[in-house]
Amino acid sequence: MKKNILFIGGSSGIGLATIKLLHEKHNVIVASRSNENLLDLNVKHIKFDVLNDELNIELIPENLHGFAYFPGSINLRPFRSLKINVFEEDLNINFLSMVKTLQKVLNNLKKSNNASVVLFSTVAVKVGMPFHTSVSASKGAIEGFAKSLAAECAPCIRVNVIAPSLTDTPLADKFLNNDIKKEKVGNRHPLKRPGNPEDIANSTAFLLSDESSWVTGQILGVDGGMSTLNTSN
Ligand SMILES: NC(=O)c1ccc[n+]([C@@H]2O[C@H](COP(=O)([O-])OP(=O)(O)OC[C@H]3O[C@@H](n4cnc5c(N)ncnc54)[C@H](OP(=O)(O)O)[C@@H]3O)[C@@H](O)[C@H]2O)c1
Repeated sequence: MKKNILFIGGSSGIGLATIKLLHEKHNVIVASRSNENLLDLNVKHIKFDVLNDELNIELIPENLHGFAYFPGSINLRPFRSLKINVFEEDLNINFLSMVKTLQKVLNNLKKSNNASVVLFSTVAVKVGMPFHTSVSASKGAIEGFAKSLAAECAPCIRVNVIAPSLTDTPLADKFLNNDIKKEKVGNRHPLKRPGNPEDIANSTAFLLSDESSWVTGQILGVDGGMSTLNTSN
């Protein structure tokens, strides 16, 4: 079945890789600030800054079968030097703006009676890591929110979260922008490499598809084994 799927963000990274998997088969609408990487793809682009704009609901199909929200942040600093405004900014881009946007299209999702919402957390919510207090707090909010919303909206809307570890996208560039950094990051993972956008996109496409029609309220770690395995012996 051809689905109407709304991507908030998607001009780069995991979102772009997911759109490349889905745009030929489905009706893909991308709301983001830029469309420069989307020009050759079969998508409708809506210029939209989630921090400053209201989503124009008139441009969204009445029946929505999928919603994925990609804007996020990785601000890593010691807690003592993290000003409260960083916590506010992280909460805003990762969580509050997602809530605002999702609320706007909730009726469209309900109308399809068979919708899937995919949100993004981080491995650092499950595994405590130094310098992650702000991003973990805002991503932790997503995990709690998603489980509650999944219960509230069952059976007509499924809600799941993907929790990646470091993945080679523009967002994570400063951690992975040369081979030495990549090797160092890779060695911290049981599967001995950082993620690539396609690793996460495959799981996103699965959760948006009917192949996952009995999956809801889950936090899916796509993290090279980071959250569950200790292979240091
Ligand atoms: N990469 C990692 O290592 C990693 C690890 C754990 C979790 N995650 C999470 O995975 C998700 C996707 O990350 P990514 O690495 O693919 O990031 P990315 O490459 O930076 O992509 C983010 C997307 O969000 C859009 N976006 C950003 N700010 C926006 C705004 N104000 N309004 C509208 N759209 C906006 C961008 O499009 P425009 O620029 O066109 O607006 C872009 O398409 C994020 O939630 C991130 O926190 C990533």
